[in-house]
Amino acid sequence: MKNVLLIIGGGIAAFKSLLLVRELKKRGIGVRVILTQGGSQFVTPLSLQVLSEQTVLSDLWDLTAESEMGHIELSRSADLIVVAPATANMIAKAAHGLASGLASTTLLATDKRVMFAPAMNVRMYESEATQANIAILQERGAIIVGPDAGAMACGEYGDGRMTEPDPLADAVEAALRGETTLDGWRDPKPLAGRRAVVTAGPTREPIDPVRYLSNHSSGRQGYAIAQALSDLGAEVELITGPTALPLPLTTTNTEVETALEMQAAVANALPADIFVSVAAVADWRPAEAHAKKSAKPKDGPAPLALVENPDILHSVCISEERPALVIGFAAETHDVAERARAKRLRKGCDWIVANDVTGDVMGGTENEMLIVTDTQETRLPRQSKRAAARRLAREIAAHFEARS
Ligand code: CTP
Repeated sequence: MKNVLLIIGGGIAAFKSLLLVRELKKRGIGVRVILTQGGSQFVTPLSLQVLSEQTVLSDLWDLTAESEMGHIELSRSADLIVVAPATANMIAKAAHGLASGLASTTLLATDKRVMFAPAMNVRMYESEATQANIAILQERGAIIVGPDAGAMACGEYGDGRMTEPDPLADAVEAALRGETTLDGWRDPKPLAGRRAVVTAGPTREPIDPVRYLSNHSSGRQGYAIAQALSDLGAEVELITGPTALPLPLTTTNTEVETALEMQAAVANALPADIFVSVAAVADWRPAEAHAKKSAKPKDGPAPLALVENPDILHSVCISEERPALVIGFAAETHDVAERARAKRLRKGCDWIVANDVTGDVMGGTENEMLIVTDTQETRLPRQSKRAAARRLAREIAAHFEARS
C-alpha cells in the first residue's frame, strides 16, 4: 500500500482535505495527517483521526513529544507528501527552508516528492512573492496542483481556490505512479502529438581552425524550454550550438557549430507545430574561414571581412513549412516592450519572448521574460530559467488548447 503524508495548512479550504482523506482511503492509499495550528482552526484532529484511521500529528504537541516517530523519519516514511491547503505562508516557508513547526520541519527534512495544492486569496496568489516562491518549489521538483479559479470565501473571484478533492486525489495517484508532470492532475500531456523544434546556445563562426566569433549564450534557456515542452508531451528536436550543458535525455538532439549548419538542421527538422528560436545566432561570420591557422601579422592586426548570416527565425516564418506557432527571442537592454513589438512584426513570428539582458542574464541562471503576442503582453517575474521555461511551455500548451 502506498502512503501519503498530508499536511493541512490553515485555510477555509481545509474542509476539503477531510474529503481528500476519505477519497484517498477509498482508493487504497494510506494517509497520515499533520494538522498545523492554523489548520486546526478549521478542522478537528478527531474528524481527521476517524477518517484516516491513524493518530493525527499536530504542530502543537508533536515537536516536543516526538513520541513514536521523529520528524525526519516521518518525512521519509511516506511515498509522497501532500500539502493541502498550501497557504501562502506554508509555500513561503517551504521555499525558503524555514523550520518553525512540525509541518515545515518535515518539508525541510524530506527526501520525497512534495505536492502543493495552493489555496489563498487571488491577490496573494498573484503576488510576485508567492509566484516566485512557487517557482522555487517547482524548480526543485515540487508538483503544484491548482489553484482553480472561482468565487472565494473572501468574496473575491479569481485563481485561488483549492483544487477539489476528486481531481486532487487523481493528482496524488498520478504522482504515486511516478507520472511527474508539473501540474499534477491536469491533462498530463497537453502537447502530446505536437512536434516542436527548438534552437539553443550560441553559434560559432570560424576564422581559422583555432579561432572563432561567438557570444556568451550558455544554452540554458533553450535547453530548459526543450525539456519543458517535452515534459508536456511534445516530440522535441533540439538544435544546439556548442554549450557546456548535458543534452536533455527526452529530446532528439542535433549539435551544430555555425549559423549555416543551424539553418540547415532547422530546415531538415521541419515540418513542426512549434518553432522556438532561442539560439543566439551570430549575425555575422568571417567571409572566409582559413583552412590553416593564420599567423599573427607582423605589421599589426589584419582586417576581418564579415558577411551576414541568414536570419533563421525569419526564414522559418516565410517558409512553406511555417509551424503554426513560431516564437522568437529578443535580448534587449532598453525599451524592452517597444523593441519586442517591433521585432515581432519585423521577423514575422507569432510571439516574441523578450529578455532584459542588462546584468547577468546572458549566460546566467535567471531570467525575466516578457511574452509579446498580437493580442497581449505578459510579464513574468524574475525566476530561474527552468521555471520560466515551464511557464512558457504552459502558455504554449494553453495556446493550442484554446484553438482546439
Ligand atoms: N535569430 C535567428 N537567426 C539570426 C539572428 C537571430 O534565428 N541570424 C533569431 C534568434 O534566435 C532570436 C531572434 O532571432 O529568436 C533575435 O533576433 P535578433 O534580430 O538577432 O535580435 P537581437 O539578438 O535581440 O538583436 P538586435 O535587436 O540587435 O537585432
